Amino acid sequence: MLPTKAVIPVAGLGTRFLPATKVIPKEMLTIVDRPTIQYIVEEVVASGIKEVVLVTASGKSAIEDHFDYSFELETFLAQKGKLDLLNEVRHISRLIEVVSVRQKEPLGLGHAVQVTEQVIGDQPFVVCLGDDLVESEEPCVYQMLKVFEKYQEAVVAVQEVAEEDVRRYGIAEGKEVEPGVYQVERIIEKPEPGMTKSRLAVIGRYILRPEIYDCLKRTLPGIGGEIQLTDALDTLRTERSLYAYKFKGKRFDAGDKLGYLQATVHLALDHPDLGHAFKKYLKEIVARL
Ligand code: G1P
Repeated sequence: MLPTKAVIPVAGLGTRFLPATKVIPKEMLTIVDRPTIQYIVEEVVASGIKEVVLVTASGKSAIEDHFDYSFELETFLAQKGKLDLLNEVRHISRLIEVVSVRQKEPLGLGHAVQVTEQVIGDQPFVVCLGDDLVESEEPCVYQMLKVFEKYQEAVVAVQEVAEEDVRRYGIAEGKEVEPGVYQVERIIEKPEPGMTKSRLAVIGRYILRPEIYDCLKRTLPGIGGEIQLTDALDTLRTERSLYAYKFKGKRFDAGDKLGYLQATVHLALDHPDLGHAFKKYLKEIVARL
């Protein structure tokens, strides 16, 4: 059985982007011409996922509205004959079914996943973090689904990071069982220097099995006093199995100001209408540096 639902936690306050995120959810910040969350939703749609489960909090309704049908806007665009824009707006509302679940307390990523148990039920599912954007030929989630299909066990996407960055991520240790696929022997949230030799950092893409819910229930608060998904995954790998997959593509941390700017430049260069003119402009700037 392959996952059909993707959980996207969006309840965070976006403090790294204040004051921009005082009123606007960080997931609605624009990269080129669409909000960051739309890139994630497009990735899961392109991977064959049929339903998105948003884990929300108050002040986040703009995200639900973005994927909803807008009668007023569509009628206006149709009357004005602005058909390209109408198609663009329709495309968003028809992308995928969206349901929302509230995370009533900010108790961490593990807790955000825990509150989806009722809507996910007894089936494997995808988790995508809204800060992580992946530019790749084949969607990152699709690549991971192929690994899941083979092993039928939970899969986390990893990339190698510099030693000084290890403390910013969940880090997986394990042995490579085929090129780019590791059987995880330990996974640690934000290890202190010296705690691990591995540099395989988990990025915000997970394929989970329903057994994770039981692991989460037994997970005590970890780093930062939060219920960490990484800690529950470490339980899961002892009771079942866990694989880490080195995805093909480039990941941006759009939750960080520098990462956000890098994502903007990359995606603007790839944009079908803007790419050419933007490249020319960048060359002019570089020549002046
Ligand atoms: C979360 C996870 C961490 C993972 C990271 C990827 O951390 O807890 O394991 O490596 O996302 O972006 P956060 O960045 O929310 O602190």
